[in-house]
Order: sequence, then structure tokens, then C-alpha cells
Amino acid sequence: MTTVWRMMLLLLLQLLWQASASTARIAREGCPERCGDVEVPYPFGMGDGCFLQGFDVTCNSSFNPPKPFPGNGNIEALSISLDGHMKVNHFIAHDCYDKNGVRTQSNRPSIDLSQKPYKFSDARNKFVGIGCDAQAYVVDHDGKFATGCGSLCNNMSYVINGTCSGIGCCETSVPKGLRAFDIWLWSYSNHSGCWSFSPCSYAFLADLSFEFNASMFLSYDKVESLPVTLEWAVGNKTCEEARNDKDFACVAEHSECYNSTNGQGYRCNCSQGYEGNPYLEGGCQDVNECEDEAKNQCLYQCQNTQGSYSCVCQKGMKGDGRKDGTRCSSELPYLQMGLGTS
Ligand SMILES: *[C@@H]1O[C@H](CO)[C@@H](O)[C@H](O)[C@H]1NC(C)=O
Ligand SMILES: *[C@@H]1O[C@H](CO)[C@@H](O)[C@H](O)[C@H]1NC(C)=O
Ligand SMILES: *[C@@H]1O[C@H](CO)[C@@H](O)[C@H](O)[C@H]1NC(C)=O
Ligand SMILES: *[C@@H]1O[C@H](CO)[C@@H](O)[C@H](O)[C@H]1NC(C)=O
Ligand SMILES: *[C@@H]1O[C@H](CO)[C@@H](O)[C@H](O)[C@H]1NC(C)=O
Ligand SMILES: *[C@@H]1O[C@H](CO)[C@@H](O)[C@H](O)[C@H]1NC(C)=O
Ligand SMILES: *[C@@H]1O[C@H](CO)[C@@H](O)[C@H](O)[C@H]1NC(C)=O
Ligand SMILES: *[C@@H]1O[C@H](CO)[C@@H](O)[C@H](O)[C@H]1NC(C)=O
Repeated sequence: MTTVWRMMLLLLLQLLWQASASTARIAREGCPERCGDVEVPYPFGMGDGCFLQGFDVTCNSSFNPPKPFPGNGNIEALSISLDGHMKVNHFIAHDCYDKNGVRTQSNRPSIDLSQKPYKFSDARNKFVGIGCDAQAYVVDHDGKFATGCGSLCNNMSYVINGTCSGIGCCETSVPKGLRAFDIWLWSYSNHSGCWSFSPCSYAFLADLSFEFNASMFLSYDKVESLPVTLEWAVGNKTCEEARNDKDFACVAEHSECYNSTNGQGYRCNCSQGYEGNPYLEGGCQDVNECEDEAKNQCLYQCQNTQGSYSCVCQKGMKGDGRKDGTRCSSELPYLQMGLGTS
């Protein structure tokens, strides 16, 4: 082949690759891919035939931009990720008093995801209580358990910003598999010992990165919800049990199944060297490692292959062409390696 032909062939291959890449879908064919600013990848979906059972999303366009609500609930999705996570806005509990110790504001957020394929992530959330007369609890709907923490302080000078150790702020970890619970919040003495600087208590699930500071004592009565992370999984079987079902969800070629680490169910992932949506037929596509220097180890020339890539040295040079391998040299590879390490 002449060089010109070779170049034209390369160009053609590149065009073909780009064409296939640009058709990569995240939703089922004919289904909307986003609601407002939020991408909605399959198995989630909006409209008949667009979602896997349990993963329906309602796009409410009375908001501008429109907002997605998984499972027709009242929890807004902020982002949905194919790695099994979903950020949502979750309500926070308030408990406020006036200076006579009379309660002025109180609510008990309650949530029930028990019929849904998602649960609160134990790995990415914590439970937080804020205030100087706060007893904050997560209480399981079935009455199986309650967990929580308390915070008491009678002088603002004891409160340390940035730490959450029971003086102004307390925290505890989230149990695995958490799906249906109420948040309870009460006080020992109606905030009478701390009312001037802490008239309210708050309790909520928050991202692990949440950091307390004392300005929240007064500003959080305006905060209604905070982002928390849910984990989703398909069904209630392990990969091995589900693999032979006719509705097994890892349908893409080059996809793999892995068990959820937070309760029942499984998820899918594209195999190494492939990317895309493993829940769709043809959803996992080859990664062209040669297009991105960070994805390959080639010194001189890179050739993409299905699921991988290989490196080539200049004409007349020897070696595997890899920065982490025998590199390229005009000598025998082992001599080059000897020189390189001396
Ligand atoms: C959309 O949101 C509005 C405001 O919260 C609510 O009144 C309405 O019922 C929602 N519509 C749907 C279809 O859920
Ligand atoms: C809070 O502590 C500071 C410093 O220890 C003290 O000066 C102040 O009087 C205390 N305030 C109250 C309300 O006890
Ligand atoms: C708190 O307030 C309630 C009613 O508002 C009252 O019955 C109770 O005695 C108060 N408790 C304390 C410790 O002040
Ligand atoms: C305290 O927290 C609030 C609310 O998250 C934030 O806006 C503010 O910047 C924080 N202040 C400091 C000093 O970190
Ligand atoms: C903590 O943060 C609040 C609000 O940002 C500030 O008013 C207070 O002085 C800070 N306290 C300390 C001990 O740094
Ligand atoms: C698993 O899910 C199926 C279908 O949703 C349901 O009928 C079954 O009771 C579930 N099994 C368990 C152990 O939760
Ligand atoms: C899934 O979990 C089951 C039961 O715990 C285990 O036997 C199996 O090896 C796991 N499969 C994968 C792919 O991790
Ligand atoms: C999914 O695949 C990607 C790319 O191969 C890999 O980086 C990631 O660790 C995999 N995730 C799991 C949970 O196996």
C-alpha cells in the first residue's frame, strides 16, 4: 500500500469511528435523554417503554428548567449516574422556639423508598444534627431501629467551627440499606439555655463533605433541603441468580455484572476498554485510547484495537513502544533497559 492510500484509509476509519461514537445513546431509542438540566440514562426513563420496571422518572415542566422526580415521588433528582448513584434533594427537619420556649416551627420529614430500586448510600452520606439543644434521630418505619445523636451547649464560645463532635453539631453514620424512615428532632429544655444564639435545631442526611459552621444556627431556617446520594440497583438478585433471567439487564455486548454493595440487586458496567451504557443493546463501545494521551502508554505510535490498543516503534527500532515497557531502541530491548536503569 502506498502512503497516500494508507492515510486515506486511516482517515476513513477515523470518520467511521466518529460516526459510531456520535450515535452513542444514553436512553432507549425514541425516548428523551434529559429532563431540564439532568441527564436521564436508561434504566431510568420518562414515558411508556422508556424505563426498566421501577426506574420511571416524571419530568415536571411546571418548573423552569423542568425537574425530574424519580418514581413520581416528591424527591427531586439532581443527577443520575450510570455507576449506580443518584443525587437528590432531601428535606431537612426543623425545630424552632421563641424566647418563651414556645415551639414556632417543627416538621418531621418522612421518606419511604421501600418499593423503589434505590436506597440511601451509607458510603457517601452521614446523619447530622445542628443546634445547642438538639436530640436528632433517624427512626426506621418498621420500628426496627433508631439511631442518632445529641448536641448540647450553653455558650457560643464552646462551639467550634468545622467540627461536629456534639457541641453545636453532632453526626453519626448512616446504616446500610436505609430506605424508609422518619427524622425525629426534639429538645431537653426548649432551647431555653441557648436561645439567644441557637433558637432552632436541624437534622438531616448530608453528603460526607458537609462541614458545620456556627452561622448555620441562624441561617438554616431558610434551608428546606440538601443534596444526598442514593444508590440504585436492579432487582433483588445477585448477578449469578439473575444472569439466566430473560430480563437480565446487562444486555450490551462487552458488559459485566456486579453485585450491589448496599443490599440486594446488581448493576452493570462496560468491560475495561469499553464505555457507554451497559443497559442498552450496543451500549458499550470501544474506547479509542489513542485519541487521549492520558489513556495510552505509547512513545511513538498508537494503534487502537477492540477493547485495547497497541504501540508501534519507528521503523527499524525495537521494543514494545510503551513508556512503561521496553520502549523503543535501535539496540536489543534488554540492552536499552539496562542502560535506562543505570
Ligand atoms: C409539578 O410540580 C408542581 C409544583 O410542585 C405540582 O403542583 C404538580 O402537581 C407537579 N406535576 C406533576 C405532573 O407531578
Ligand atoms: C460565654 O463565655 C464567655 C467566655 O468564657 C463569657 O465571657 C460569657 O459571659 C459567657 N456567656 C454566657 C451567656 O454565659
Ligand atoms: C417546653 O414547652 C412546652 C410547651 O411549649 C412546655 O409544656 C414545657 O414545659 C417546656 N419545657 C421546658 C423544659 O421549658
Ligand atoms: C458556613 O456555612 C455556610 C452555609 O453552608 C456558608 O455559606 C458559609 O460560607 C460558611 N462560612 C464559613 C466561614 O465557612
Ligand atoms: C464560627 O463561625 C461563625 C460564622 O461563620 C462566626 O461568627 C464565629 O465567630 C466562628 N467561631 C469561631 C470560634 O471561629
Ligand atoms: C424480589 O422481587 C420480586 C419482584 O419484584 C418479588 O416478587 C420478590 O418478593 C422479591 N424477593 C425478595 C426476597 O425480596
Ligand atoms: C454476588 O454475590 C454472591 C452471593 O453473595 C456471590 O456468590 C457472587 O460471587 C457475587 N458475584 C459477583 C459478580 O461479585
Ligand atoms: C466499571 O468499568 C470502569 C471502566 O472499565 C472501571 O474503571 C470501573 O472501576 C468499573 N466499576 C466497577 C464497579 O466495576
